[in-house]
Amino acid sequence: METYENVFQYPFSVIENVPFEMKGHWHEQYFHNNNPIVLELGCGKGEYTVELAKLYPDMNFIGVDIKGARMWTGATQALNEGLKNVAFLRTNIEIIERFFAEDEVQEIWLTFSDPQMKNPRKRLTSTYFMNRYRKFLVDGGVIHLKTDSNFLFTYSTYMVEKNALPVIFRTEDLYHDERIDEGTKKILAIQTYYEGMWIARGLNIKYMKWNLPRNGELVEPEVEIELDDYRSYHRSKRSSLDKAK
Ligand SMILES: C[S@@+](CC[C@H](N)C(=O)[O-])C[C@H]1O[C@@H](n2cnc3c(N)ncnc32)[C@H](O)[C@@H]1O
Repeated sequence: METYENVFQYPFSVIENVPFEMKGHWHEQYFHNNNPIVLELGCGKGEYTVELAKLYPDMNFIGVDIKGARMWTGATQALNEGLKNVAFLRTNIEIIERFFAEDEVQEIWLTFSDPQMKNPRKRLTSTYFMNRYRKFLVDGGVIHLKTDSNFLFTYSTYMVEKNALPVIFRTEDLYHDERIDEGTKKILAIQTYYEGMWIARGLNIKYMKWNLPRNGELVEPEVEIELDDYRSYHRSKRSSLDKAK
């Protein structure tokens, strides 16, 4: 991917020595337009990044992940299909604010993120990450969460409620919810690699989108949530709170 013009590789070990000079300049230096920028964090192969870019040529999409081998699939597809509104950033999401300036991003997609049941500091819907997103997301920008995980979905619902973040839409069974309009269905029908695996195992797919206003202190919810029993974790630990405190 070193030769790919649509891939920027700045893992933590690199950015310590090489500054990322496109922060605040993605529009003029990469996309060459002023269209809204949408991120897919933990994009894996980048299915949402690529498919949304095709559905919305008047928007720009950036897939972010630390694993280059997965990202290669989406980056190669975008190059082969000549999608100019796509980029990929290989880095650690923990330092995501080093790559985008205030107001540079319009929306964030979290697609089948690891629930990080033992560690809220690593959980992409925790207030620790909301505070990072606030540094570059427009005020009231939209966060989308699509997940198989009951743990992550329940936790995220508590997080949103505790902080009175406005929920735009929420469903616990995306593919059997009749409230969803045709336009939204088209977006939500995009399936990722992990989504396919979880559907094959008979799990419901859950989806929620909410606004993230910039003002007000965010409070981490202190709740006990049943762990997903189909994931591997330390079997003797039955609650998510042990380490969460
Ligand atoms: C369960 S996979 C989901 C991938 C893809 N969205 C899908 O649905 O197929 C989670 C992805 O998030 C990435 N990831 C998790 N935590 C990350 C972090 N802190 N920084 C960068 N990437 C991360 C992993 O490398 C992995 O590709």
